[in-house]
Amino acid sequence: MLVNGKPYRSIWREENTHYFGIIDQTKLPHQFVTIRLETLQNAVTAISDMLVRGAPLIGATTACGICLALLEDSSDAGLERACACLLNARPTAVNLRWALERMRTVLLSLIPEERVEAAYREAAKICDEDVAINEALGQHGAGLIRQHQHGKGSVNILTHCNAGWLATVDWGTALAPIYKAREQGIDLHVWVDETRPRNQGAHLTAWELEAAGIAHHLIVDNAGGHLMQQGKVDLCIVGTDRTAANGDVCNKIGTYLKALAAHDNSLPFYVALPGSTIDWTLDSGALIPIEERGEEEVLNVAGTTTGENITRVRIAPAGTVAANPAFDVTPARLVTGLITERGVCEASRAGLLSLYPEHG
Ligand code: MRU
Repeated sequence: MLVNGKPYRSIWREENTHYFGIIDQTKLPHQFVTIRLETLQNAVTAISDMLVRGAPLIGATTACGICLALLEDSSDAGLERACACLLNARPTAVNLRWALERMRTVLLSLIPEERVEAAYREAAKICDEDVAINEALGQHGAGLIRQHQHGKGSVNILTHCNAGWLATVDWGTALAPIYKAREQGIDLHVWVDETRPRNQGAHLTAWELEAAGIAHHLIVDNAGGHLMQQGKVDLCIVGTDRTAANGDVCNKIGTYLKALAAHDNSLPFYVALPGSTIDWTLDSGALIPIEERGEEEVLNVAGTTTGENITRVRIAPAGTVAANPAFDVTPARLVTGLITERGVCEASRAGLLSLYPEHG
C-alpha cells in the first residue's frame, strides 16, 4: 500500500543486504519509522514486543527470522534452536507455527551449505503468496459487500482490531474486501473499534483508512451493539489469528461480543482469513491458547501530547491490578461465513473442507 505516495509492504528484504526492513507499528500513527532486522533476536523481539503483529505478518516475520538465524548457524542444531526461539514469541496466531513448519520442512531436506539461499527463497515465497492470497480473499469479500449496497447510501462495515495491510504483508484480511470494494467504486463507511488495550483500531486501522481516503469513524469498543440496534451497521468483517477445524475463530479480545451483538441484530458477521490461519489439528476453538499479556497495557494508555514522542499515561489507581487476555474465541454458530482466498464458506468443518479438500 502507499505511504506518502511510496509503495510499501509491511516487511521487505533490504536491497543488496541479507537484512529485512519493517515498520515499527508501536509508533503509528504518530511516527512512521522503519527499522532493520539483522539478527534472529531482532525478529523475535519485533514479534513479542509487537513492532510487527497480526497473524499473517507474524508468520512472514518468523520466516525472515529463520533466514537471519541461518546466517549465523545453518546446522541442524542451529535451525532447531532458531525454531525454538521463535516458537514462543507469541502463542495465539497459528501462522507462527505454520511458517516454522514450512521453513523447517524445506530446509531440513537440504545440506547446511544450501540452506541460507533456500531460506531466503522460501521466505520471499511466503511473503509473495501472502500478498496474492489476501488480494484474492479481498475480491471474494468485495462481492459480499456489494450485496449490501442499498440505494445511494454507503455500505456501513464494522471492524475490530487491525486486520489491514499492516497485519499482513499487504492488503490485509478484513480490510482487503474493503480496499477491493472501494476499487470497484462501492461507497463505503467503516466503523473502527478502538480495540483496547493496545488500540490497534485507533492507531493502525484508522491510519490505514485515512491514508486510503476511506470514510470511517473511530468508536469506543462498546459502541458497536448500539450502532447495530440503530440500523447503522450493514455487516461486520474481522480477521482471525487461528481458525479451528470446526470453524470457531480466535481473534482480538472483544470480537466475541461484536459477534453476539451482530447475531442479536440479525446482521452478517464475516471473518476473513488466509488458509495459513486454519489450525487443522484443533477440533474446537476452546483448545486455542489465549495470550495473556502484561497488565501495564490495561493500566495505561499510550499516546502523544506533542504529536511526536509517545508516552504512557496511567489511568487506574496505583494499587489496582489488571488482567489482560488478548484474544477470545467466537463460536462458529455466530459466524455468517469465512472469507478465504478460495471463496466464501460456511464456518464449519464441512464448509472448510469444501474449499480445502486436501485436509479431508
Ligand atoms: O495482537 P495483534 O495486534 O497481533 O492482533 C491482531 C488481530 O487480532 C488481527 O485481527 C488478526 O491477527 C487477524 S489479521 C490479519
